[in-house]
Amino acid sequence: MEFLEKLNRRYATKIFDPTKIIAKGDLEKLLEAIRLSASSIGLQAYQVLVVENPEVRKKLRQASYNQSQITDASHLLVFAVDYDFNQKDADNFIQLIADTRNTTVDTLQGYATMIKGHLQQPAAQLEEWLTKQVYIGLGFGLVAAANLGIDSCPMEGFNTAEYDTILNLSQYGLKSKVILALGYRSEEDKYQYLTKVRKSTEDLFIHV
Ligand SMILES: Cc1cc2nc3c(=O)[nH]c(=O)nc-3n(C[C@H](O)[C@H](O)[C@H](O)COP(=O)(O)O)c2cc1C
Repeated sequence: MEFLEKLNRRYATKIFDPTKIIAKGDLEKLLEAIRLSASSIGLQAYQVLVVENPEVRKKLRQASYNQSQITDASHLLVFAVDYDFNQKDADNFIQLIADTRNTTVDTLQGYATMIKGHLQQPAAQLEEWLTKQVYIGLGFGLVAAANLGIDSCPMEGFNTAEYDTILNLSQYGLKSKVILALGYRSEEDKYQYLTKVRKSTEDLFIHV
């Protein structure tokens, strides 16, 4: 299937077939695509929880307006921002660059200063900026899933505070922001048969 055909086949799945489970290899590829996501300055100030535990999923469904995707999808990803990203995390990131690219921290001082400058923003503004990066990860996940023939539903319809409590996210300094249900569509899901509604090319793009 061509790339654009795959994207046309993708839709926000409302009813998953609970008997169909994503093969380990495919899941690994999908998670790797998320890991390869772009992020501002490369910080990746978020983590992704891969929730399989059925008991936890039941609780999460209650905190998600009872949407069935939460329990019926094969896997549930919870994208959670590291809202507490600080100078020490920035130092660790610089060290990671140095180790990965076989260079020294000293050669990266200018970069480190620039990153730390960004961290001076007021906390709410900083969290908002870091949260934008989470959504890029979500986008990579959506496209990767479509490419692998995995169905998905990106979701904001959940109570973030309840998720944070159920998943005990404060222990990691994380806050849930958006989730991605992954699995395989049920034939009964009528949404898969509907024509996509999108702006026309003329309305979406402005060529200057
Ligand atoms: C960030 C985000 C949050 C969404 N939240 C939900 C949700 O909570 N429940 C749901 O069924 N669909 C949710 N959707 C799916 C959208 O309604 C859907 O993507 C949109 O209507 C376009 O349809 P399509 O993706 O099927 O082409 C969400 C989509 C995005 C990108």
